[in-house]
Amino acid sequence: MSLVIESGQTWALVTGATGGLGQEFCKLLAARGYSLIITGRDSAKLARLCQTVPKVRLAFAGDLTDERSIRNLVARLKKLNIVPEVLVNNAGFGHYGMTLATESEESLSMIDLNVRVLTELTLEFARQMQQAQKGYILNVASIASFMPCPKLNVYAATKAYVLSFSEALHDELESSGVTVTALCPGPVKTGFWARAGVTEMESFNFAVMDSRKVAEYGLKALFAKRAVATCGFTNKMLTAAAQIAPRFLTRMVSRAMLDQLNRPPKKEDKKSDQSA
Ligand SMILES: NC(=O)c1ccc[n+]([C@@H]2O[C@H](COP(=O)([O-])OP(=O)(O)OC[C@H]3O[C@@H](n4cnc5c(N)ncnc54)[C@H](OP(=O)(O)O)[C@@H]3O)[C@@H](O)[C@H]2O)c1
Repeated sequence: MSLVIESGQTWALVTGATGGLGQEFCKLLAARGYSLIITGRDSAKLARLCQTVPKVRLAFAGDLTDERSIRNLVARLKKLNIVPEVLVNNAGFGHYGMTLATESEESLSMIDLNVRVLTELTLEFARQMQQAQKGYILNVASIASFMPCPKLNVYAATKAYVLSFSEALHDELESSGVTVTALCPGPVKTGFWARAGVTEMESFNFAVMDSRKVAEYGLKALFAKRAVATCGFTNKMLTAAAQIAPRFLTRMVSRAMLDQLNRPPKKEDKKSDQSA
C-alpha cells in the first residue's frame, strides 16, 4: 500500500494485527493518535484493516518466522526514518494436544514465532527506542506463563519465556525512557482456540474475556509503565495461587482444567437446554 508520511507522526507497530487481539490493539492505538504499521500473513485481512482503520499507513504481509520478513520490515522502516514509539509483539499461536502426539514442526514453529521473533523484534526496536529515549513495548504473554500446562505444553513454555524476558528487560531499562510490559490474558474470544485445535471450550466460559477489554487493559498498563499486567479478577486469583501453591498442586489443577477442553457439554446441561 502507498505510504503517507506527514511530519510529526508518532508510530506504533503491531504484529499479528489480523487476529482478534491485534485488531483491537490497532483500533485503540489509532484512537490515541498513532500512525500504524501492521503485520500479518493474511493479506486480505490486512487490506480490510487498512480500510477500516484509516491510521494504518504501512502493512507488511508475511510469515514472521521467515527471517527475510523481519529483515525487510526493519530495513524499510530505517529507510523511511521511522522509529516506532510503540511496539506490540502480539503475533503468536498455540497447539492443544499431548506433546508427543504433536508434530515436532508445529512445536518448533511455535517456539520460533512466540519466542525468537518476539525477542528479535524487541531487541531491535528497544535499541532504537533507547537512542530516542522514549518507547513502549507490549509483549503478549498469557496466564499460561505462570504454570506448566499439560496439553498446552510448548505454548505455555514459550509464554513463560515471554514473561520472564519482558519482566527482566523492564527492570534493565528502568529510567531509560523505554518501558516493557508483559500482558497476561486468560482465555479470550479470538481465532486462537480454533487455530490451536480446540473446538469445545464451554468449561472455560467462566473465565473468557472480550478481546476489546483485554487490549484496553494491556495498553492502559503499558502507558502506566507496568511490568506485568494480568487481566481479570479470576485470572489474577489463578496466577497468584499458582505462585504460592506447591508445584505438584498447580500442575494438577492446570491439568484438570485443560483436560475439560474438547469435551462435549454434559448430558444434564443438554437436557435442561432442550426443556427450556
Ligand atoms: N486468545 C486467547 O485466549 C489468548 C490468551 C492468552 C494469550 N494470547 C496471545 O494473544 C496473542 C494474539 O492472539 P489472538 O488471541 O488474537 O489469536 P489470533 O486471532 O489467532 O491472532 C493471531 C495473530 O498472529 C498472527 N500470526 C500467526 N502466525 C504467524 C506467523 N507465523 N507470522 C506472522 N503472523 C502470524 C496471525 O496472523 P494471520 O492470521 O494473518 O496469519 C494473527 O494476526 C498471541 O500471542 C496469543 O498467544 C491469546
